[in-house]
Amino acid sequence: MIKSFALILLVLHSLPAEDCRTCHQSHLSACGLTCNACHNVTKAVFPVDILSTKNHPPVLRFPSANDYSGEKCQKCHQRQVESYRQSGHFTMENMLKTLSVSSIPGLPQKLSRKNLINLQPVKSPAGANEIIGPLLVQKCLRCHTEARVSDQASGRKRHNGCASCHIAVDQKSGASENGHKFSGQVADATCLTCHSGNYTGADYYGYYEHDYHQDYNTPVGSSPEFGSFQHRLSSDIHQKKGLSCTDCHSFHKAYSSGRKVKECLDCHTGNPAKAVSETAAYNPDIVPHQSFHKQVSCTSCHAGWSYQDYGLHLYYDQTKQYDFWINYKWQGDQWVTDWLDSMSVLPEAERKMARSPNYLSGALWPGIWYTAWEFRRWEDPVLGIGADGRYKIIQPFSGMNLTYVDSLNRVWLDSEKFAGSWRSYSPHTIQPAGRACESCHGNAKAAGLGIRQSPEDIVSNPVTIPQFDKKSADRALNSAEQKRLLIPSALYRSKKAEYLQSRNIMNLFR
Ligand code: HEC
Ligand code: HEC
Ligand code: HEC
Ligand code: HEC
Ligand code: HEC
Ligand code: HEC
Ligand code: HEC
Ligand code: HEC
Ligand code: HEC
Ligand code: HEC
Repeated sequence: MIKSFALILLVLHSLPAEDCRTCHQSHLSACGLTCNACHNVTKAVFPVDILSTKNHPPVLRFPSANDYSGEKCQKCHQRQVESYRQSGHFTMENMLKTLSVSSIPGLPQKLSRKNLINLQPVKSPAGANEIIGPLLVQKCLRCHTEARVSDQASGRKRHNGCASCHIAVDQKSGASENGHKFSGQVADATCLTCHSGNYTGADYYGYYEHDYHQDYNTPVGSSPEFGSFQHRLSSDIHQKKGLSCTDCHSFHKAYSSGRKVKECLDCHTGNPAKAVSETAAYNPDIVPHQSFHKQVSCTSCHAGWSYQDYGLHLYYDQTKQYDFWINYKWQGDQWVTDWLDSMSVLPEAERKMARSPNYLSGALWPGIWYTAWEFRRWEDPVLGIGADGRYKIIQPFSGMNLTYVDSLNRVWLDSEKFAGSWRSYSPHTIQPAGRACESCHGNAKAAGLGIRQSPEDIVSNPVTIPQFDKKSADRALNSAEQKRLLIPSALYRSKKAEYLQSRNIMNLFR
């Protein structure tokens, strides 16, 4: 009797693959494999990686996550696994580079995945560097690698590793689309599950986050995309013409030029055989395209606007004081929204201490990371010099001010500056008409002299003046370059007149 009971249990535990579909009816298999080929468990990195309950056979929850794609996918897709592992999506290279160049001594140089996995919650940090670990696992890694705890914001729901791009998720229901079959085509919306919230990619669609205070929520009462309310600025001309991210970005192959991105002149050649359908040829004869601008990148002129987010403040708060933050609940982090919603309705005594997931391990850790910006702008993109020596648009980036208040209300850090370097980037806000001449020539802000917030100010707000880390390959304009832009030459005046004439601007005044 006992023997046969054990036998039944054993049978339940090694369900034949097809039986998964008795419950998971809408799931089709992928890659022509049995369910078990991907979902069987060999060795798990974190306990949460396995779903194993009384009623469920043990299964691996994230077969294509970085920790498993080698084992589960490589034997058939070796080229793609290797190329993916060289990309920033896997290495987090740019983020780690920016965070390890620190103005604070003693920062652990290796913020590697292995070190992060072994991280413990912090109790009494001696310096800002010691809360960078918690910052990463409780805030940043939900996009910067993959999250054992899914982001629940509409527009942000996604899977892990390869599947973060290759299995689309329905944003209403959270269910995988097409029975979770892997698709070789990746939709823009899937890229935006991470590339949203004033990061390159969202600008392609004209998204720009509203200020977080509830007074700026519009339209009142509607629920926002990506966990925050969004302005709709002018989207990229290529988006309007139907091009998608993957028309220019490849992940596993290089284009004929050897690069993984198609650049402007790959398409705007004037050679119909090489171009995409009816692409306008780049005309080198019009005034703005003439040789005196050969050091000015295409994007510097054609970007209609750029992300300029000044003064990032991150508050690591382990208390249960929610009354202030409830006014800032839509801040691009659905966990923060949901937690504040659930706590703020309770009487003080029943509120719980702040908690949020360690996105890497799935465990709940003390504290919540709140975000605030000093101010944000989009107009008159600022110029700097990129690694190739050409003029590029630059943006303030990840200069962070860290505050830490523990559960006993002790303030360990108060707006402590951490890292912070500007960088050159490529706004995806291309417009047919380039910027006006005066948007660069004679414009102090574009030349890198910063913004005076009101006419009475004698000096610019310091956070708006470009700062580059010594190790950065990008730099601000030097004073000779600034002068060239700010003091109009005779050539400039004549070229401007020529340009206005060519555009028949004078017709407007007749
Ligand atoms: C008796 C019904 C049943 C069977 C059989 C079953 N599942 Fe499930 N499975 C569920 C239910 C219900 C859930 C969601 C609730 C939960 O998390 O337990 C689930 C959840 C899952 C999840 C998602 C876990 C997560 O939360 O990320 C995976 C993956 C999964 N099942 C795979 C399988 C595979 C593979 C098989 C076959 C070996 C299988 N299931 C067999 C009912 C079943
Ligand atoms: C080629 C590998 C592969 C095969 C084969 C496969 N899966 Fe999956 N499955 C995945 C990946 C990858 C995910 C995404 C996990 C994540 O969230 O990162 C997933 C997610 C899931 C989920 C949870 C998310 C959701 O879609 O609801 C369930 C349930 C699931 N699979 C069931 C099945 C069943 C049932 C079969 C067999 C019919 C199957 N899988 C076959 C790779 C596979
Ligand atoms: C046993 C070999 C095998 C394994 C293991 C395997 N695949 Fe596949 N995969 C295939 C085959 C064959 C196809 C094409 C047929 C199909 O789409 O079902 C395919 C198709 C795909 C596609 C779509 C490609 C296209 O051009 O449409 C993606 C993406 C993909 N696999 C990803 C994965 C990921 C991620 C894993 C690991 C979780 C994985 N595969 C594991 C054999 C495999
Ligand atoms: C909503 C998803 C998301 C979250 C959360 C997120 N990032 Fe990012 N981050 C991105 C994306 C997407 C990129 C690449 C696009 C870009 O560079 O604009 C990026 C790029 C970066 C870069 C790259 C800079 C470079 O020079 O290329 C740094 C540094 C960075 N993030 C730091 C952080 C830090 C620190 C946090 C946590 C406070 C964080 N990110 C949280 C999505 C996110
Ligand atoms: C950041 C998004 C992204 C991630 C992550 C990603 N891929 Fe892809 N993958 C793409 C895109 C986009 C394509 C379409 C072809 C292209 O442009 O590279 C593609 C194409 C493919 C194809 C079809 C054949 C081909 O080369 O065109 C396979 C197979 C594939 N990927 C497997 C994988 C595997 C396995 C992983 C994980 C190790 C992975 N991908 C991770 C974006 C991604
Ligand atoms: C899981 C979240 C996520 C998804 C999905 C995602 N990205 Fe990214 N992407 C990032 C992050 C985070 C970075 C910054 C990486 C770093 O720190 O170096 C990045 C970097 C990039 C970069 C610059 C660096 C590089 O490796 O080329 C490009 C281009 C890019 N993403 C395009 C895309 C496109 C196109 C898609 C959709 C096909 C996509 N991404 C899907 C999170 C994501
Ligand atoms: C018309 C071509 C084109 C399209 C469409 C396009 N990109 Fe790009 N993207 C570029 C070029 C060119 C660069 C600059 C590459 C470099 O400097 O190495 C770039 C750079 C990036 C970067 C690197 C960070 C930065 O700002 O320099 C990210 C992230 C990115 N693109 C994401 C996306 C996403 C997501 C989409 C779709 C929503 C997309 N791109 C659509 C051409 C394009
Ligand atoms: C993948 C091919 C491709 C790439 C790469 C590309 N474009 Fe385009 N571009 C197009 C297509 C297609 C159109 C729409 C048809 C047209 O108007 O020419 C377009 C339209 C334009 C227009 C509007 C032309 C007009 O008169 O309406 C401008 C300006 C432009 N692109 C600039 C750029 C710049 C700057 C870059 C590099 C950041 C770039 N393009 C990269 C394909 C591309
Ligand atoms: C100094 C600013 C500036 C730079 C640099 C610049 N453009 Fe332009 N571009 C313009 C302006 C302004 C127009 C609008 C011309 C008009 O309508 O009179 C324009 C027009 C265009 C058009 C529309 C078709 C045409 O030629 O009239 C395309 C395509 C284009 N540019 C592509 C590019 C590409 C590709 C680059 C880089 C190789 C580039 N531009 C660099 C300012 C610039
Ligand atoms: C995106 C910013 C930008 C825009 C818009 C722009 N320029 Fe320039 N221009 C520059 C920069 C930067 C230089 C210096 C180039 C160098 O140092 O190699 C320059 C140099 C010049 C020069 C040669 C240096 C001098 O002053 O004699 C002339 C002439 C000129 N621009 C005329 C124009 C005219 C006319 C327009 C409008 C049609 C225009 N520019 C629009 C950025 C811009």
